[in-house]
Amino acid sequence: MKSASNLILVGPMGAGKSSIGRRLAARFGLPFVDADREIECATGAAIPLIFELAGEAGFREREHEVLARLCRSGPSVIATGGGAVLRADNRRLLSEHGFVVHLDVDPESQLRRLANDRARPLLQRPDRREVLQRLGEERAPLYADVADLRFETGRGSVRQAAERLAGLLCEHWQAPIRPAPDTIP
Ligand code: S3P
Repeated sequence: MKSASNLILVGPMGAGKSSIGRRLAARFGLPFVDADREIECATGAAIPLIFELAGEAGFREREHEVLARLCRSGPSVIATGGGAVLRADNRRLLSEHGFVVHLDVDPESQLRRLANDRARPLLQRPDRREVLQRLGEERAPLYADVADLRFETGRGSVRQAAERLAGLLCEHWQAPIRPAPDTIP
């Protein structure tokens, strides 16, 4: 059993980090935060525009700053972007401040879910399947390195996946104890 104040979801684009994260947050009575949305709020720009103006390196810098803030201001359920594990300092931060779940997805489901995506700069090219495969191969060891638990999301609905994962989490993660509403002064 690992005790950690945050529940942190890592994994490739299209794995369901935000949709499953939202349900887990409700289930565990914690706030939900999506790191990509926080980056957009902090910079005042949408992710494609950040990539256009500052490049991927500029985006990764802002991503690191936001992750550091979110990790330290929990407890919460944090959905990270697919590339959050690229930096060793991010991986350290995530493991130190959370119970980290690697949400994984099979390539066909991933491609289906992302088929119409226009918001992810790394996918705005014709060879989407190859890009996803390459990113998957490069990042698989990084997800494995940081994760306390790996969970396959490919089959079934978001609700079913969240329920199954919540059951597993009860066995592996000691979630923060939040005071019952009537004990709050
Ligand atoms: C990225 C994944 C995206 C977003 C950005 C880069 C990546 O997040 O952070 O487009 O490098 O895999 P999602 O995994 O939530 O799509």
